[in-house]
Amino acid sequence: MLLTILTGTFALALFAGNANAAALSNRQATTETVLGSFYAYGEGLDGLPVFWSDETAFVGLQPPPDSTTATNVTFHDDSEDSTLTVTPNTTETLSATTFFVDNSAGAFEPAGFTSSPETADGLVTSGFIVFGNQLVLVDSSGALEQLWWALPTETEGVWTLRWNVDTVTDNDAVPVVVKNVAPVPIGS
Ligand SMILES: *[C@@H]1O[C@H](CO)[C@@H](O)[C@H](O)[C@H]1NC(C)=O
Ligand SMILES: *[C@@H]1O[C@H](CO)[C@@H](O)[C@H](O)[C@H]1NC(C)=O
Repeated sequence: MLLTILTGTFALALFAGNANAAALSNRQATTETVLGSFYAYGEGLDGLPVFWSDETAFVGLQPPPDSTTATNVTFHDDSEDSTLTVTPNTTETLSATTFFVDNSAGAFEPAGFTSSPETADGLVTSGFIVFGNQLVLVDSSGALEQLWWALPTETEGVWTLRWNVDTVTDNDAVPVVVKNVAPVPIGS
C-alpha cells in the first residue's frame, strides 16, 4: 500500500518534471510569437485598432491632427518575460517599439512605446499576455489585470488607450477590452 502511494507520487513528480522540460524547450525554441494588431472594444468603440502615433498608443482609424508619424502596428511577443514589441504595418520606421503602461499608484496615463525599456519608475514593459484573445497584465502576485480605458481626444473618433491603475472615474472615458481579434464586419 505504502509502496503504491510512493510509486504514484514519484510517477507524478517525474511527469511534472518532463512537462516542465518540454515547456522550457518549447519556449526556447520559440523566439517570437506574432500576436497581430489589437482592437479596443467598449461603449462607442466596436473594435477599433490600437495604433502607434508619436510613441503613444491611440485607438481609432485616423491619426490625431498634430501627429508626425502614425501607423497601424503588429504586436509580437519576443521574450520569456512577455515583453511586447511592435512592427509598423506601413513602411515607416518607428523610433520606439516596446509597449508599456504606467502602473504606478493613481496613474491614468496613455499606454505607449519606449525605446529604452525598464528605465522610468512605474513603467511596465513585461508581463503582458493574451488570455483568451484579451490583452492582460500579469501582476507580481500572478493576478490577471485588465485596466484598459479609452479616453477621447479632441478629434472625434480618436482615443488614447489608457491604463487606469486605481480605476478612477472619468465621465468621458470608457472601459475597454483589448483583443487581438478584429471585429467581424456586419453581414459577413
Ligand atoms: C489602420 O487600418 C485601418 C484598416 O484596417 C485603416 O482604416 C486605418 O486608417 C489605419 N490607421 C492608420 C493610423 O494608418
Ligand atoms: C496589420 O498587419 C497585420 C499583418 O499583415 C494584419 O493582420 C492586421 O490586420 C493589420 N492591422 C490593421 C489594423 O489593419
